[in-house]
Amino acid sequence: MTDNLFQSFALNDTIHLANRILMAPLTRCMADENLVPTPAMAAYYGRRADAGLIISEAVIIRPDGQGYPNTPGLFTPQQIEGWKAVTSGVHQHGGKIFAQLWHTGRVAHPHFFGDGEVMAPSAVGVTGSVPRMRELTYQVPKAVTHDDISKLINDYAQAAQNAIDAGFDGVEIHGANGYLVDQFLHFDSNKRDDEFGGSPQNMARFPLAVVDAIVARIGNDRTALRISPGAYFNMAGDPRDREVFDYLLPQLEQRDLAFLHVGIFDDAMEFDYLGGNASSYIRAIYNKTLVGVGSFTAQSGSDAINDNKFDLLAIGRPFIANPDYVTRVRDNVELVEYSDEMLAQLV
Ligand SMILES: Cc1cc2nc3c(=O)[nH]c(=O)nc-3n(C[C@H](O)[C@H](O)[C@H](O)COP(=O)(O)O)c2cc1C
Repeated sequence: MTDNLFQSFALNDTIHLANRILMAPLTRCMADENLVPTPAMAAYYGRRADAGLIISEAVIIRPDGQGYPNTPGLFTPQQIEGWKAVTSGVHQHGGKIFAQLWHTGRVAHPHFFGDGEVMAPSAVGVTGSVPRMRELTYQVPKAVTHDDISKLINDYAQAAQNAIDAGFDGVEIHGANGYLVDQFLHFDSNKRDDEFGGSPQNMARFPLAVVDAIVARIGNDRTALRISPGAYFNMAGDPRDREVFDYLLPQLEQRDLAFLHVGIFDDAMEFDYLGGNASSYIRAIYNKTLVGVGSFTAQSGSDAINDNKFDLLAIGRPFIANPDYVTRVRDNVELVEYSDEMLAQLV
């Protein structure tokens, strides 16, 4: 019984979803050499348009945000044109699609953007290298200046405008998974002692400024955010992080965003300093639309919605394996099991 997944859901007066299943953002590294989405990408998204809402793979807002090969951008006219083919395909099939706006911060690599600087809140690197590109080890970033911060905020807002110009229904700010916005929110990566670090209010300042700049540009009804209060990827958790999110969440609630989305691979994962898993922690203090995700099946996600753990269910890997995921679940047809080899091809 997964009936609740097939109920329509109004994010607000502007955006009505046909069902409660979202396609989670899934980086596929298949854009062309100019980071322009290809016709194959348009077909891939078009095939998944019966999701209540597709969230695009993460899209870089400017060149120095890139940390993986062939991730698409939203900062050149060609990229905007390329995305128009994607969004119109999804709309023709009756779907809706948000762009996930991304800057990888300290996980960026100059290999991808012509030897510029890697930028992050503080000069604290991550160990390791770009996946499947072992020779590209991560660098110690430059701590951003106030001028860098102003430019980043403007570039996020411009990318949001570009997303609307490209036909997206809205944007999800990628504030999760250890990338730039998230790097401000955790003590592991934010060691600043100015107004952007050192206290919950200060550590939330940049993320909230990005939210506010985008809301001012495209409206709160078209703006969403993904966050990872539980550090699990490119980030070490710190018990003090809890206070940062305790402060951030009521602030976000006041902004009345389209939705808030948990950034996690497995929502069964528990974090000592959150007193449990990420979605329960957020749900206890945030009273607006919450998207749950992370190793759910349609049934376990439907049960979680039934138990009021979140309002909408995002599905990631099973959507790679099953373009017709929504139809299969509705018609009770067996799903194809996901495997990592499927990432080699865009089907
Ligand atoms: C291949 C792959 C690419 C991903 N890319 C992104 C991404 O671009 N942005 C993001 O926020 N999360 C990304 N994620 C995380 C997913 O959105 C999702 O949280 C995760 O896969 C857990 O959901 P699932 O168990 O339904 O797959 C990615 C996950 C996978 C497997």
